[in-house]
Amino acid sequence: MKTFYIETFGCQMNAHDSEKVVGTLLQSGYSQVGAPAQADLVLYNTCSIRDKAEQKVFSRLQQFKHEAGKGKVFGVLGCVAQQEGEAIFERAPHVSLVAGSASYTRLPEMLVQLEAGNRRVTGLKLDTEETFDTPFTRRENPHRAYITIIEGCDKACAYCVVPMTRGPERSRTSESVMREARTLADFGYAEVQLLGQNVNSYRDPSPAGWDFARLLAATGEIAGIRRVRFTTSHPRDFGKGIVDAIESNPVLCNHVHLPVQSGSTNVLNRMQRLYSRDDYMRRIEWMKNARREIAITTDIIVGFPGETEADFNETLHLADEVEYDSMFIFKYSKRPNTPALQYEDHIPEEEKTRRFMVLQERQRAIQIRRNARCVGSREQVHVEGYNMATQQWIGRTSQNKTLNFVDPELPSPSGDNTLAGQFTDVLVTRAGPNSLAGERVRP
Ligand code: 5AD
Ligand code: SF4
Repeated sequence: MKTFYIETFGCQMNAHDSEKVVGTLLQSGYSQVGAPAQADLVLYNTCSIRDKAEQKVFSRLQQFKHEAGKGKVFGVLGCVAQQEGEAIFERAPHVSLVAGSASYTRLPEMLVQLEAGNRRVTGLKLDTEETFDTPFTRRENPHRAYITIIEGCDKACAYCVVPMTRGPERSRTSESVMREARTLADFGYAEVQLLGQNVNSYRDPSPAGWDFARLLAATGEIAGIRRVRFTTSHPRDFGKGIVDAIESNPVLCNHVHLPVQSGSTNVLNRMQRLYSRDDYMRRIEWMKNARREIAITTDIIVGFPGETEADFNETLHLADEVEYDSMFIFKYSKRPNTPALQYEDHIPEEEKTRRFMVLQERQRAIQIRRNARCVGSREQVHVEGYNMATQQWIGRTSQNKTLNFVDPELPSPSGDNTLAGQFTDVLVTRAGPNSLAGERVRP
């Protein structure tokens, strides 16, 4: 029996791609092992969004270099593979397979070549017409499933490698998405997450011609599906129809991740984001005025080339105005073949770090304030599991907040008796900056 090990870096798109790769390998007669040492085939599904993420894979490859040659085969998949291509063979000569996400449909073929002893196998073509949609996906989470609805990205944000690593936008037909969602519901998945680099520019290629709001609403109507999430949204394409859909069906989670990147229109223009601060705030208004309280989260890049102190202050003010429920902050990182690389006035590392810390501190105070408002409320959670260390069940609210709780009647899982996968009500009794805590209430 041939064995493989896979480690995944990066976003949910990558996590889901790995589920597809694992499914394909199992189908091809491989079995999965938990450590590289036991594996015949060692795969890294990589991320190149920031320099640090990219470095990680090369340090992993260094770590196990000595094992190559003893029959062990190494492969680099995902965004670093697509970005660096055959240069990876030069940098890490013990690597035998380099393949980007757009070529995973060819994985079985590539495996055959590897098994035949070919030591330079590549899958780097990007001009693919097909979306990677395999019947062999092996999902990791038994309760929540990812569904790819759109691949690639047609935007050209000045800092970003994604249009290069994942190629042009390709939407799946609504029929194919709905079929997968119904199958998942039949298998008992109560929660699905629609995935794409930019789900808002989803456009059904079939004559039905659904837009994203329509697809979202239809997914929420499927019997057995109790929660629908989606990620990630680009503000330019985020239409009011999405807010309307969330308002009218509680199955659609009241959480929107809407990356703003900067609060300054000047910086947004130089980032080529295609919206102004005002455009963005209009979308925030739609959500703030909705009948359901929608949690809003975002991504922000600090220290983009040319970002002045005044620009940065605008980002701080925007954070105060929106009052995000959570925020991912990144220091700008130079990426190969991106327009921003050519920009002048790059910001010194110490200054990026300072801005990062100022924003982080500001956001922490906002989260403490926002989460404190939840104390005393009753929330429905989807239970993810049990934390042995804290002796609490781990739940997630529709707003995507972690709500840890105790259940006096079931203090811990015992035998087959577990809350994992169930929906239950919890009274929130405490709040911290990053999570809530409470006690289960029974109807
Ligand atoms: N440097 C820093 N952060 C980046 N992101 C994307 N590219 C870069 C870069 N070159 C951030 C953006 C994006 C998130 C996934 O990663 O905020 O929304
Ligand atoms: Fe990383 Fe972007 Fe690739 Fe996701 S799409 S793995 S975030 S580079």
